[in-house]
Amino acid sequence: MSRELTLDPRVDLGRGLLLPNPVGVASGTFGYGFEFEHLVDIQRLGAIYTKGTTPLPRAGNAPPRVAETAAGMLNSIGLHNPGVEHVATAYAPRFAGWRVPVVVNVAAATVEEYVDCLRRLEIDGVAGIELNISCPNIANGLDFGRDAAAAGRLVQACRAATSRCLIVKLSPNVTDIGAVARAVEAAGADAVSAVNTYIGMKVNLGSGRPVLPGRGTGGLSGPAIKPLALAAVAAVRAAVSLPVVGVGGIAEPADALEFFVAGADAVQVGTANFTEPGAAIRVLDGVVAYAEAHRLGRLTELRAVPAPQPA
Ligand SMILES: Cc1cc2nc3c(=O)[nH]c(=O)nc-3n(C[C@H](O)[C@H](O)[C@H](O)COP(=O)(O)O)c2cc1C
Repeated sequence: MSRELTLDPRVDLGRGLLLPNPVGVASGTFGYGFEFEHLVDIQRLGAIYTKGTTPLPRAGNAPPRVAETAAGMLNSIGLHNPGVEHVATAYAPRFAGWRVPVVVNVAAATVEEYVDCLRRLEIDGVAGIELNISCPNIANGLDFGRDAAAAGRLVQACRAATSRCLIVKLSPNVTDIGAVARAVEAAGADAVSAVNTYIGMKVNLGSGRPVLPGRGTGGLSGPAIKPLALAAVAAVRAAVSLPVVGVGGIAEPADALEFFVAGADAVQVGTANFTEPGAAIRVLDGVVAYAEAHRLGRLTELRAVPAPQPA
């Protein structure tokens, strides 16, 4: 006798993007999906958020580009990717045949470049756009994501350029992440994801220099950032009524469940993919088993932080 499932695992991120389940893989940790196709059943994922895709191909920074830290890692990959044209012509037709929705993560240096990328991605196979706003804004030298007004202007222009679900990925390297979330909500974002990596540094005492070249800093990710990311998600949940995709240090089903308590509607598994390519699938199975054991109809029933009511 088959047992009746109580859980509806689907997550509506808006504008037609209905995820089959809430557990996806985070940008920059799963390539464009092909790289993992032979290792795990990628079609079971809730979504694949691709590597950050830029207007032109980029080779990224010279090595070393990653460094291990306590319970995490630092990276300064420098957006190594084949460029939007290649993604549109060579990858998107393959995405179109997949069951798993592919959300293309986009990064650029000017508003115009973001807009051009989004226009090029108005094609089959692109289920949604995740806007990486943690990019230096050439016009004023500061990350778009660090300034609520600049983030709002960028999202307003991007909104006009895409019919796809527009997910804005928030930077945690700000004083008030809720203010940035409110600005992108007002500018027309369909959802937000939180968070990108935290700025960090590792120093080699022997050489007396930082381990990563250039500015010496990189993005910190992995279990080390989970408590920070949970606090950020709770702050965003309290600030906006948009769907929130939680990301930061998720490696176990319990980690993902904690993000639902903090207010997430869906989650992404990132750094854990490097040590365990099937981590997201294992997290998904554990989350579903928990929900079934607790007779949950929706994972949002776990939520402890209420969202504000739309005005
Ligand atoms: C090696 C590496 C590359 C990343 N590249 C991107 C990227 O291109 N665009 C982006 O928005 N986030 C990128 N991220 C950030 C992750 O998507 C995620 O937000 C962050 O790592 C926190 O999640 P985690 O602790 O589960 O890894 C990258 C992270 C890592 C570790």
